[in-house]
Amino acid sequence: MNRTHNFSAGPAALPESVLAQAAEEMLDFQGSGMSVMEMSHRSKIFVEIAAQAEADLRALMHISDDYHVLFLQGGATGQFAGIPLNLTHPDDTMDFIDTGSWSKKAIKEAGKYCQVNVAASSAETRYDHIPDPASWQLTAGAKLLHVCSNETIGGVQFKDFPSGGAPLVADMSSDILSRPVDVSQFGLIYAGAQKNIGPAGLTVVIVRKDLCGSARVETPTFLDYAIQAEADSMSNTPPTYGWYLAGLVFKWIKANGGLEGIAQRNQAKADLLYQAIDASNFYSAPVAPEARSTMNVPFTLADSELDAEFLRQAEQRGMFNLKGHRSVGGMRASIYNAVSMASVEALVSFMSEFENERG
Ligand SMILES: Cc1ncc(COP(=O)(O)O)c(C=O)c1O
Repeated sequence: MNRTHNFSAGPAALPESVLAQAAEEMLDFQGSGMSVMEMSHRSKIFVEIAAQAEADLRALMHISDDYHVLFLQGGATGQFAGIPLNLTHPDDTMDFIDTGSWSKKAIKEAGKYCQVNVAASSAETRYDHIPDPASWQLTAGAKLLHVCSNETIGGVQFKDFPSGGAPLVADMSSDILSRPVDVSQFGLIYAGAQKNIGPAGLTVVIVRKDLCGSARVETPTFLDYAIQAEADSMSNTPPTYGWYLAGLVFKWIKANGGLEGIAQRNQAKADLLYQAIDASNFYSAPVAPEARSTMNVPFTLADSELDAEFLRQAEQRGMFNLKGHRSVGGMRASIYNAVSMASVEALVSFMSEFENERG
């Protein structure tokens, strides 16, 4: 079998042992004579799979009973609308910290449903840092404060989170389960699954129960947190196979030291790559060191004319999906939980070779 070094930003690499187990269980899940894909979501066997996945996620993140954990569809993009529809009314204000492309998309969508205030933005410096919290222009009486904990395109990551103001909402699509977080600091955490959780098509929402229950009448039923919580996320057919695979990923994280163990490995991978970039005169990382993401590492070559050649040679060595997002150019290595240290070592070694040859 020929597995690549997969640096995709998402959908992204999944743990090989998870894929192998899913393959083994594909035709006959635990003697049921069917694939999980073929089961009714109402069947006892699937309801058990679903409940176990939720229990494992709660255990991994220490999520208390004060929170609903929902397994929904519609992606993080669905939640850009779902959050204001569920948690605000048209005259309420959502404050946003704008740290990149995904913040901007969330701001634009929320603006259709409520008042939005961009309390701080790093747009002027091409999103290379997190604005100093002392400079944030927060709205008195804001209903929510929204952050994107990790900007997947720009590679900017919050290392700690504000507390004490309006309930904090975090788009954790690209760094959920990469490190421990104190869930009690948040009103709501949401994430598309396709980086650290599982395949695309599943969206996880962790929301404080007391914030739910007054969704606007026009809220689509499948996005209504109270209705979905009441129905155990099955008010309509949930993404059953993604939910099952997410459950296997949660077990894999548990078996690999939980979030503390995963965080240590992620930090070591990121350190290796950033140190290699910083030590070279050929590569550079645009993000301020204190805000550098451990998940998405953007970098540029001293001569962008060499980008295509760099990517070509990387692919020859089995390294894929290193091209930066079309909006920013350059390179980006996404090194999510399932990307091994061996893959990062292979990348660093190739980068050094390339620099020696062409730099
Ligand atoms: C940080 C972040 N937020 C939101 C999204 C949008 O997610 P989706 O495509 O699941 O709607 C992405 C997509 O990759 C993302 O990286």
